[in-house]
Amino acid sequence: MNQAGGRPLIAGNWKMNGLRADGLALAQAIRAGARGLRADLLICPPATLLAPVGEALAGSAIALGGQDCHADRPGAHTGDIAAVMLADLGCRYVILGHCERRAGHGETDEMVRAKAVSALAVGLIAIVCLGETEAQRDRGEALDVVARQLTGSLPENASAANTVVAYEPVWAIGTGRVPSSGDILAVHAHLRRALAGRFKDAAGIRLLYGGSVKPGNAGEILALADVDGALVGGASLKAEDFLAIARAGAEQSWP
Ligand code: 13P
Repeated sequence: MNQAGGRPLIAGNWKMNGLRADGLALAQAIRAGARGLRADLLICPPATLLAPVGEALAGSAIALGGQDCHADRPGAHTGDIAAVMLADLGCRYVILGHCERRAGHGETDEMVRAKAVSALAVGLIAIVCLGETEAQRDRGEALDVVARQLTGSLPENASAANTVVAYEPVWAIGTGRVPSSGDILAVHAHLRRALAGRFKDAAGIRLLYGGSVKPGNAGEILALADVDGALVGGASLKAEDFLAIARAGAEQSWP
């Protein structure tokens, strides 16, 4: 936990999961269990559930977020969602550049940056994801890769108020494998240094870790220096697991 972060941000990325009934039940269970927790919680359901989940969370402190947005203003982009549409639905955050979009939709750093520009322009907080593949790690390139992604993906007007960076090693996502604490520390420290070289309030930019975060490893990960929260995939689909991760984060929060 980094002092500037104060409370950890625990974000649930539901990915392409959830029909109306189970998505609503999940959101309601998280809402009920989150009362009084000293952690900032965020739920990013699929686009089809943004409106009902947003209604289920209304009046609570749990934030709503999208999983992607288009770089352009509203217009002729079939199947896409503009940043302003997310904001209009009550979203405060949007995940950008997740590796499943980089790999599955050919998103480059440049495209991610253009999306972030659009998100920031409508007042959304961009959660910009980056992370090395297993082959890159094996070649000893992890630090260079994430630094390059950071440089290419963050817009010039990124700040602690409008941007969160999520380090998600590709090989740790959905695999049950997690880097060693030393490796997470090294990457987060490297990202912090890179941010400091470019942004005045770099110390306050939240750095999340993502990739097989579970109740069993959350305490250790969230206690690490420069880990200001978690971006949770699979475990965010079970209210008890997500809440257990949030509690592990809350225990690390500063008084
Ligand atoms: P898992 O927690 O399922 O590994 O997913 C991580 C992730 O991709 C969050 O964005």
